[in-house]
Amino acid sequence: MKWCVIGAGGIADRRTIPAILKDEKSTLVALMDKVPETAKAVGEKYGVEYFTDEETMLKSVECDAVYIGTPVFKHYEQAMLALKYDKHVFVEKPIAMNAKEGAELAEAFKKNGKLLCVGYMMKYHNLHEKAKALIKDGAIGSVNSVRAQFTCWYPEIKGAWRQTKALGGGGAIMDLGVHCIELIEDVLGEEIVDQKAFYSTKTFSYEVEDGAVIIFKTASGTLGHIDVNFNVPDNASESKFELYGTKGYIICSGTLAQEEKGVLKYLYSPQGDYVAAQNRETEKPQEFFGEESNLYMKQIVKFREAVESGKLDYFYTDRAVQVQEVVEKIYNEK
Ligand SMILES: NC(=O)c1ccc[n+]([C@@H]2O[C@H](COP(=O)([O-])OP(=O)(O)OC[C@H]3O[C@@H](n4cnc5c(N)ncnc54)[C@H](O)[C@@H]3O)[C@@H](O)[C@H]2O)c1
Repeated sequence: MKWCVIGAGGIADRRTIPAILKDEKSTLVALMDKVPETAKAVGEKYGVEYFTDEETMLKSVECDAVYIGTPVFKHYEQAMLALKYDKHVFVEKPIAMNAKEGAELAEAFKKNGKLLCVGYMMKYHNLHEKAKALIKDGAIGSVNSVRAQFTCWYPEIKGAWRQTKALGGGGAIMDLGVHCIELIEDVLGEEIVDQKAFYSTKTFSYEVEDGAVIIFKTASGTLGHIDVNFNVPDNASESKFELYGTKGYIICSGTLAQEEKGVLKYLYSPQGDYVAAQNRETEKPQEFFGEESNLYMKQIVKFREAVESGKLDYFYTDRAVQVQEVVEKIYNEK
């Protein structure tokens, strides 16, 4: 698969281009960034042709797929442009600024028989796959309580698109919360159907929220909450994903992250009768560890294989749109 990249300077340079290069059946042919120095520096770093205009690149370079790693407000326009040039597209999360834009994108790609994937790589973490399999097997019974936590330290940076509502679409919910929503729905195998949030801008002076607590209910009645913060330092939270059911728990620590690390603790502890004393014994859970492989490469390989197979599946594209619906309901409530 021959790849072009639009928006080469951030996550593209840090994670996605190295992932494309690691996949033996993918090749990077050209890249584009609107900042000339970035286009030149990243182009020279990877030894490929570079551009500062996306249409010029798409007109002059032959490729099969386009990776879009630009700020959210450009996703819709650039994905549509790539489709105009008959390309499959892998766009970073969130799919677009809102559900309407996302739904239009999904529809256009389906109509034209091109794949559109969104960069929700956390579901490919081996421990999240393990959690999903355990739940499917009934290993913790019926899941009744879920918690997900994703934090980072994101102080004021002049001109940062993520700190401007019109460019990023929101703050911690739009940037970090979307990962949690997508992951929870994937692991549980069902959608969030009701949600509310408290959010505020407490630590920093930008206009978007720097922290949020989302509470939600899924279709089957599972309840949970998501804590996302731009104002908790990277190493000051365990970035936990917890699932509690009628027969036990699954607690993942350090797994909501860019690397496939962390640990999953699983305890099977069903209980028959009501025990008034509620004496809690400390039972030892089983432990499983992260594979430390590359989440970004996994998603690139899955995308390439889907295109090669000719069986274009839009399940996760539609889910990415539904994630935006959840986010929109949260923002519209306040
Ligand atoms: N999946 C993940 O783990 C992950 C992590 C970080 C970012 N992201 C997503 O990736 C996207 C980019 O985030 P980032 O952190 O890399 O941002 P960034 O600002 O660090 O990098 C964006 C790059 O795009 C370039 N750019 C800006 N406007 C452009 C335009 N109109 N055309 C072409 N290039 C343009 C910038 O010059 C910069 O090089 C966002 O959607 C973000 O949510 C995903």
